[in-house]
Amino acid sequence: MKAYILKNFFNMKEKILVTGGTGYIGSHTTVELMNAGYDVVIIDNLSNSNEKVIDGIEKITGKRPVFVKGDCTDLETLKKLFEDNPGIKGIINFAASKAVGESVQKPLLYYRNNLNTLINLLQLMPEYGVEGIVFSSSCTVYGEPDVNPIDETAPIKCATSPYGNTKQISEEIIEDYVASGAPIKSIILRYFNPIGAHPSGCIGELPLGVPQNLVPFLTQAAAGIRPELTVFGDDYNTPDGSCIRDYIDVVDLAKAHVIAMERMLNGQDHDAIEIFNLGTGNGLSVLELINAFQEATGVKVPHKIGPRRAGDIEKIWANPYKANHVLGWKAEADIKDTMRNAWQWQCNCNRK
Ligand code: UD1
Repeated sequence: MKAYILKNFFNMKEKILVTGGTGYIGSHTTVELMNAGYDVVIIDNLSNSNEKVIDGIEKITGKRPVFVKGDCTDLETLKKLFEDNPGIKGIINFAASKAVGESVQKPLLYYRNNLNTLINLLQLMPEYGVEGIVFSSSCTVYGEPDVNPIDETAPIKCATSPYGNTKQISEEIIEDYVASGAPIKSIILRYFNPIGAHPSGCIGELPLGVPQNLVPFLTQAAAGIRPELTVFGDDYNTPDGSCIRDYIDVVDLAKAHVIAMERMLNGQDHDAIEIFNLGTGNGLSVLELINAFQEATGVKVPHKIGPRRAGDIEKIWANPYKANHVLGWKAEADIKDTMRNAWQWQCNCNRK
């Protein structure tokens, strides 16, 4: 009772485990959770991130999350984490490999990382009194849509990569586990294309090696780190011939996780599993995005048109109606602000 009164007095909220919390989306979500009063424990194996990200989080929030360097595929590591940090009420699971091309080369790595992590977390949740898990899924589960914008009732198509397959299987694992009577709730968030960086310039996307995704490659090309950006195809059935995506600001995306967590832990009468698309509802082509960057920053992006990339979807953008009306969340950032933040982050990285 005393702890409850103290928590309310200081606007403290539940303790949340963020797996993959030093990664791109994980770090931005940690910031928003901490700003909302949640107590955060991060676990990350640093396979695709850096412990210095914790400093960036502290700079923004004025608080330091608990950090455990460890691998979620190891059940004993997770058990120790729950023993050492009692009272975790919710999990946001970002710990997963996410490069589409690499997943084709190393499928077992993807199945092992992405599925074992989820299975371990689900198994331990009831044992340690964890009530809910927010799962990072992807619009990749829809494959090439028959219609755009796409909503959550659209059919799940055959996955085009092992990465995409891990997202589909993960959603099914959660559904089967809840259907078996496991005493947990879950919110599955299907992200469209997260881009940008925190406006403070303290955290952003830190791809190791050559970036696979469009925006980090674009900002590196603009900074002269890469000779030029290749636009993968200009012969698609779209107005300018380049592919169309729904680019969502990473801070907007992070805020949706806080709302989802609040709903899962404190909401009443909701289904045990809920699924939401997280996108802006607007499609932008690759060439339009390059223009938006150039207009926002005044910096030229050296680029050329190249062949199509195998496995690319032609066009996909979200119908975010359900997230807008049920979660009460809406993507708000202006694309030019998002581009300026991405550029500021790139410039900060260059100085380090
Ligand atoms: C893919 C996945 C998505 C995943 C994301 C994270 C699919 C269908 N989508 O998104 O689920 O969350 O990766 O890694 O599996 N492009 C260029 N030049 C470049 C890089 C990209 O033109 O150098 C174009 C691509 O062709 C695409 C767009 O930019 O049209 C976005 O590509 P990218 O950032 O890699 O994301 P997706 O492939 O859409």
